[in-house]
Amino acid sequence: MINKVSKIYVAGHRGMVGSAIVNHLKSLGYENIVTRRSGELDLRNQLEVEYFFSQEKPKVVIDAAARVGGILANRDYPYQFLIDNLKIQNNLIEFSLLNDCEKFIFLGSSCIYPKFSPQPIKEDYLLTSELEATNEAYALAKIAGVKACEYVRKQFGKDYSSLMPTNLYGPRDNFDLETSHVLPAMITKFYEAKQQGNQPVILWGTGSPMREFLHVDDLAAAVTFALENELPDNLYNVGTGVDITIKELALMIQQIVGHSGDIIWDDSKPDGTPRKLLDVSKMKTLGWEAKTSLKEGIIETYEWYLENSYNLKKVKIS
Ligand SMILES: NC(=O)c1ccc[n+]([C@@H]2O[C@H](COP(=O)([O-])OP(=O)(O)OC[C@H]3O[C@@H](n4cnc5c(N)ncnc54)[C@H](OP(=O)(O)O)[C@@H]3O)[C@@H](O)[C@H]2O)c1
Repeated sequence: MINKVSKIYVAGHRGMVGSAIVNHLKSLGYENIVTRRSGELDLRNQLEVEYFFSQEKPKVVIDAAARVGGILANRDYPYQFLIDNLKIQNNLIEFSLLNDCEKFIFLGSSCIYPKFSPQPIKEDYLLTSELEATNEAYALAKIAGVKACEYVRKQFGKDYSSLMPTNLYGPRDNFDLETSHVLPAMITKFYEAKQQGNQPVILWGTGSPMREFLHVDDLAAAVTFALENELPDNLYNVGTGVDITIKELALMIQQIVGHSGDIIWDDSKPDGTPRKLLDVSKMKTLGWEAKTSLKEGIIETYEWYLENSYNLKKVKIS
C-alpha cells in the first residue's frame, strides 16, 4: 500500500510535468520524494540507472522524463526522439521491475493515436491505423512504453499503467516561438505585440481547427489519483473532454494579455488535423476529472510568464 512516507521517484522533476507532479505530491503531504537531474543521472545510461535503483529502491516510479520537442525538432532529429525515449523508458521500467517497485506510472502523449482516429479518441484506437508522420518516432517510442507497462501488468500482475495527456499548458511551459506549442506561443506573440504598441499578430492557418487543452496541475492531480487508486486497466486518456477552435483560443489569450491590435490569419500555412479530442470517459468512470477552467488556467499561466520571462527555456538537441 502506498502512503505518505512511501518512496516515490519522480523522473524528469525539473520539466513542466514533473515539477507540477512534485509540487502536487508535496502539497498533499508526500514526504519521501526522490529526484535526480539529468546531469546527475542520465536515464539513457543503463549502468547509471541500475546503480540508482539498487541504492534507492523506490516503491513508486512516475516517469515524466522524456526527450520532448516541437514539430521542427521532431522532423530534424527523429533518431534521437526514438532512441533516447526508448532508452529512458526501458531503463526505468526494467529496473523498477527488477527492484520490486510496486507501482509505475508512464506518461505519454495523445500523439500515440492514429492520425485519422474517429473523435473523440478512445484508448481502444491505439494501433488501429497509421500515425501522424511529423512525430512518428516519438509516438513509436511512447507506444513501446505503453506496451511494456501493459506486458508487465499481464505477465507479473503489477500495477504498471500509462496516462496519455492531451495538449498541456501551465507554469514552466516552453514559450520560445521557434519550439513552443500553440498556447504558450500565442501568449508570447500577443505579449510581444502589445509591448510594441499593439502591432498586429500573425497566426498560422484559418483558426478553424479544434483543440483540447489541459492545465498541467490537473494532470498532476490525475497522476496522484492513479497513485492512490489501483487502476483496473493499463491505458487511460487524461484531458478535459472539451475542445475549442484555435480562433476562440486566440481571442481568449488576446483579451487576457490586453492586446488591442489586429489578428491576421495566414491561411497559406497549414491548419493541421481539424480536430483532436480525447475521450476521457474511462478516467471519469473511475472518479477523476479535470477542474481548471481554460480561462483561469491561462490567466495563471500568463502571470507566471510575466514573472519568469527572463529565464525561459529552449529545446536543446545535443
Ligand atoms: N508538454 C506537453 O504539452 C505534454 C503533453 C502531453 C504529454 N506530455 C508528456 O509529459 C512528459 C514530460 O513532458 P514535459 O513537457 O514536462 O517535458 P520537459 O519540460 O521537456 O521535461 C522533460 C524532463 O525530462 C528529463 N530528461 C530528459 N532527458 C533525460 C535524460 N536523458 N536523463 C534524465 N532525465 C532526462 C529532463 O531532465 P533535466 O531537466 O534534469 O534535464 C526534464 O526534466 C513527456 O513524456 C511528454 O510526452 C507533455
